[in-house]
Amino acid sequence: MPQPATLTVSLLVNGRRIAAEIDPRRTLLDLLREDCGLTGPKKGCDHGQCGACTVHVDGKRMLSCLKLAACADGHAVTTIEGIAGEAGLHPLQQAFIDHDAFQCGYCTSGQIMSALEALADPALTTRAQIQEFMSGNLCRCGAYNGIVDAIMDLKADAQL
Ligand code: FES
Ligand code: FES
Repeated sequence: MPQPATLTVSLLVNGRRIAAEIDPRRTLLDLLREDCGLTGPKKGCDHGQCGACTVHVDGKRMLSCLKLAACADGHAVTTIEGIAGEAGLHPLQQAFIDHDAFQCGYCTSGQIMSALEALADPALTTRAQIQEFMSGNLCRCGAYNGIVDAIMDLKADAQL
């Protein structure tokens, strides 16, 4: 029985160079979770519908369950494991705690990775705009108000 062809990919994951021999059909989410041991990105629906798998690729949010790992070859990937600094939690992680923006936490890594992009976008200023931007990240615990509060809080700080 012929073995399926494999290919070698090399990515920068949270600042660390990762090289792997993969099935060309492997998703970025599976590469991160199973080959890199980064289980922060969650496999919720595996169909691009829940946002739990959100990571950044070259600084832009991406649903890693829909992206082939081969397409991330040569790119920089950031997961929730890569955002805290040496001094401690990222301010957005702290804001989620302060605003009670999670309950079970299953969606939280994806929420935070999306929210980071919302924070960085100066065009998003109103609560309604933030809600719309975050609408692809579902939360079965219904922590939506706390999530938007956390983002708005940091947006307000940035204007001081
Ligand atoms: S697991 Fe990727 S969108 Fe749900
Ligand atoms: S905190 Fe439970 S799904 Fe969002």
